[in-house]
Amino acid sequence: MTSGIRLILLGKQGAGKGTQAVRIAQHYSVAHLSTGDLFRAAARGGAPAGLEAIAYMDRGELVPDDLVLRVVREQMLDGGLMDSGFVLDGFPRTLVQASALEEELAISGRPLDIAIDLEVPTEIVLDRIAGRRVCDDCGTTYHLTMPPKVNGVCDVCGGTVSQRDDDTEVAVMRRLELYETATMPILDFYREIDRLDEIDGLGTGDEVFARIVSAIDARLKTED
Ligand code: AP5
Ligand code: MG
Repeated sequence: MTSGIRLILLGKQGAGKGTQAVRIAQHYSVAHLSTGDLFRAAARGGAPAGLEAIAYMDRGELVPDDLVLRVVREQMLDGGLMDSGFVLDGFPRTLVQASALEEELAISGRPLDIAIDLEVPTEIVLDRIAGRRVCDDCGTTYHLTMPPKVNGVCDVCGGTVSQRDDDTEVAVMRRLELYETATMPILDFYREIDRLDEIDGLGTGDEVFARIVSAIDARLKTED
């Protein structure tokens, strides 16, 4: 059965991809796959792929394409995501990755429904990242202005809430630079195949989510 939506979320570091991906996945009952969360979890568990990736991540560098593709293929194919649908958060991030995903989609016989680019100005993402706090166990995202109920303890799973290791000023500047050079070109890729919707990522989480849902539903309607 091929039913769930197939969506990728693009946007600068701190644009709100993770925050919105969780909500989209819940709303449309599909899996949420964040390559960043995947690597962080693998590194915490001591898996070789995770340990290799984390060395790049902590410096704000991109993880090499071959490693990313190996891990994503495993997750998508073994997890049955090609059939059940998905929200990809943080993948693809290079043209090589976007082409590899297109190949898998072509094999599966069903194209991507939509690529959403969450647009947020750099000065705002810097502020969001500086105040971000994340649960080490389940990845739930908080902000100094929206903290968990008990300081340092995740509302969802009781895990420890802390600052991400790659949210240092130097790593963040490098990540933003790489977004411009390596990831921005894939916006044109999705624009050319008429899959790209650019959405204003400013406003409350609810406001942004409402914009996303109406863009997705409009796409699904035209496919009917
Ligand atoms: P990843 O974990 O994906 O990090 P990222 O791309 O840097 O993006 P972020 O997670 O920082 O931002 P986000 O858009 O998810 O924002 P969030 O929702 O948290 O990747 C980390 C690293 O892994 C990469 O640098 C790379 O090394 C490696 N990697 C991963 N995938 C890779 C790939 N495909 N290829 C190669 N390398 C790869 O929100 C940020 C903050 O803002 C939070 O505090 C949140 O509460 C707050 N916030 C969210 N929405 C709003 C709102 N509407 N208003 C106010 N505050 C808000
Ligand atoms: Mg994220």
